[in-house]
Amino acid sequence: MIIAIDGPAASGKGTLGKRLAHHYGYRHLDTGVIYRAVAYAMIAMGADLNDEALAVAVALELDPEKFGNPILKTQKVGEGASVVSAFPKVREALVNFQRQFAADPPGAVLDGRDIGTVICPDADVKIFVVADPRVRARRRTLEARARGEDADEEAVLADILKRDERDKNRTVAPLRPAADAHTLDNSNLDIEAGVRAAIAIVEAAR
Ligand code: C5P
Repeated sequence: MIIAIDGPAASGKGTLGKRLAHHYGYRHLDTGVIYRAVAYAMIAMGADLNDEALAVAVALELDPEKFGNPILKTQKVGEGASVVSAFPKVREALVNFQRQFAADPPGAVLDGRDIGTVICPDADVKIFVVADPRVRARRRTLEARARGEDADEEAVLADILKRDERDKNRTVAPLRPAADAHTLDNSNLDIEAGVRAAIAIVEAAR
């Protein structure tokens, strides 16, 4: 069983993915972390994020053991991720890892932007999570502050809108719901209500 969750920045898809995986005893992959890891490695070496060839080389050498590094969650790295993820060859370099993760037993939940459309077009269940940009900005700001980062909600909102635009308008694997995706509007749901709604979608599809 493969559950694909896609949606824009800070829509809550990561939390939903983690909770669904826990509920069903499946493995969970937050695919945004992969692009964030590419961006972070480039930032750390002082490289230009627009250097496509270097980004591809970095993508091919990624160490999944390092995906838990909290620095990957910062706004700056997220912004960098949306730059490097627009390169077709960077995405191509990361396809096999994601498909292999999805295929391994007993089942998997993957969340990202193109899971239902490109990575796992045959996923058993596809959920497209949306939420009002203001709500998303508020959540991201609170998360950043909880990590001790200095976050301004207006700046976070601007960053989210910029990232959404870039993710929706890129030529390869743009952010959009798969034709057979179920849309879940997370704007007015707390975590528990969101999880219940997602489980209901999975149950109805099984
Ligand atoms: O979801 P998250 O905010 O961690 O993603 C960071 C960036 O990585 C996104 O803005 C997007 O550009 C890119 N991404 C992607 N495809 C995915 C997951 C993330 O292009 N499957």
